[in-house]
Amino acid sequence: MKKFITTPIYYVNDVPHIGHAYTTIICDTLARFYRLRGDDVFFLTGTDEHGQKIEEAAKSRGKSPKEYADEISAKFRALWDEFEISYDHFIRTTDDYHKITSQNVFAKMLANGDIYKGEYEGSYCVSCESFFAANQLIDDECCPDCGKKTRLVKEESYFFALSKYQDRLLKWYEDDKCVLPKGKKNEVISFVKGGLKDLSITRTSFEWGIKLPESLNEPKHVMYVWLDALVNYLSALGYSRGEEKMEYWNNTLHMVGKDILRFHAVYWPAFLMSLELPLPVSVAAHGWWTRDGVKMSKSLGNVVNPKEVADAYGLEAFRYFLLREVPFGQDGDFSQKALIDRINSELSNDLGNLLSRIVGMSSKYSANIINSNSVKEFYSSELEASKTHIDQALASLEDIAPNRYLEELWKVLNIANAAIAKYEPWNLIKNGKENEANALVALVANLLAKVAILLSPAMPKTAQKIADALEFKISTQSFKELIIDSNLTNFKANSVTPLFVKIEQELMAPPPVANIEELKAKDEEIKIDDFKKCVIKVGTILECDNIEGSDKLLKFSIDLGEQKPRQIISGIAKYYEPKSLVGKQVCVLANLKPAKIFKHLSEGMILSAEDGSLTLLGTHSPVKNGAIVG
Ligand code: MSP
Repeated sequence: MKKFITTPIYYVNDVPHIGHAYTTIICDTLARFYRLRGDDVFFLTGTDEHGQKIEEAAKSRGKSPKEYADEISAKFRALWDEFEISYDHFIRTTDDYHKITSQNVFAKMLANGDIYKGEYEGSYCVSCESFFAANQLIDDECCPDCGKKTRLVKEESYFFALSKYQDRLLKWYEDDKCVLPKGKKNEVISFVKGGLKDLSITRTSFEWGIKLPESLNEPKHVMYVWLDALVNYLSALGYSRGEEKMEYWNNTLHMVGKDILRFHAVYWPAFLMSLELPLPVSVAAHGWWTRDGVKMSKSLGNVVNPKEVADAYGLEAFRYFLLREVPFGQDGDFSQKALIDRINSELSNDLGNLLSRIVGMSSKYSANIINSNSVKEFYSSELEASKTHIDQALASLEDIAPNRYLEELWKVLNIANAAIAKYEPWNLIKNGKENEANALVALVANLLAKVAILLSPAMPKTAQKIADALEFKISTQSFKELIIDSNLTNFKANSVTPLFVKIEQELMAPPPVANIEELKAKDEEIKIDDFKKCVIKVGTILECDNIEGSDKLLKFSIDLGEQKPRQIISGIAKYYEPKSLVGKQVCVLANLKPAKIFKHLSEGMILSAEDGSLTLLGTHSPVKNGAIVG
């Protein structure tokens, strides 16, 4: 089966950080897994080099945009090469072939009647390279996505008839796998249901972009960077040129961060519909990383440099941590402590020690030869339980849940480790039950081999060390035999050095504390008088509605036992269906200074608890509206 898997292409205004490494490593793991099971994979990554943001970043460094892009793009490529990322092609949007495809795409959408000329007047966020209508802004001027100040833009522009595709997009979302994880799809659906406006797809106020097709004779216009960027997925396959690799297109998985899901799950499929091309099978969106609980930013100096982590703790451990630490789709936190804990317990104990024990036992009991003939006779229940977890691991990767995949593999390791503790092979030997003892070693060696085969996409070097130690092969054939057909095999054990050495202390310098402490001060202890300044009341939700043009906000009318209900705006649209909240009692910070959000007055704040998902705070049993929380 042919499979196309893509990372986002990375903006060249920033050097690679943990977020980029995360997306790339998930894709690398999936690509390696698909290859292992025998698929023909085309794995694409690259850099996004046009647009106002890059033009301005280059200028501020006294460089031409191309010079600047060359420099940063090379850094991404060098890091992925150092990390042995198994990409098949690295695309740069400044490559000539990409420019040609982008122009062909523009011409085709124009010919299909989806592009028209007009004038764009509105706000533009350079950081997100995104347009916003006035009623979408925060405090009348800030970007609702990143919070930075937007700029007013009024310029001649070509538009893409996005609104025309609203119904077809909503139909597409009925497909089970089109947007993963499933929870993220609701956000996209509510955005589209909120009404789609046609999209400005050319700019005239700067130069660093792909020119329109010559036949249009529009030298002032360059393509909107997101149109050019999304088209990279087609240029890399030769679309509209030689079509050499377009057979991969029918089975496409786009991996993206949650911040760019809208571009991939709304604009991109609409462009593809206009081009009369099949839509991707899945757009999978992951969450964002923080460091030690704090949002990463260049100004705080706390951005995690993936190379520094890999140098300090080893690339394999870093890969494992990234894939295992966060449920796919949720936000995650990087801390050296969490990484060290996983290395010491899961990698060193559960995995590394198991290999050492197998090698040690087989050298003592059976001159390093591990024969599996009697495993089924003595340990069929362990084999069956392991098979269930292996099947679940495979199913988890189908759902793009690498964390669950690894969890299931570790359950197999737990079965192996528990079997050693339970049956005590040293006692079996003492009691003359050599057959059982040797079968036990063979059981755990087989379980470890199965785990190593499945672990190889995530931790290729570690898996290979295990395969070398027990003399088996990691290949599509062994995947079929040991994983799909659930066969057992024989081994010869060789002595090994520990797979993972325990780590006693943090190996990287912590980020500069000054700024971080300032942020953390938010968590500082307070006196009761400070708390008393907050008036928290219980109230009943009388009405709750979406706000047009916003996929995040809900407008509430809440009875707080006062003369008239309060209007409160809250950014929880992605967690709740508005009507389901009517009649519920919630806790409200009632003396918060009123503010205008999205042009609506908000008179308080609804309290909620967040742990990746979100729940509103209420009371255990009904109370009178206006009751004080304290
Ligand atoms: N150039 C666009 C993508 C175009 S794809 C046709 C872009 N580039 S980016 O460099 O800003 O971001 C690339 C990816 O990195 C995005 O998927 C984004 O979500 C991810 N991350 C950036 N910061 C991140 C974290 N702190 N944590 C996790 N991922 C984050 O957007």
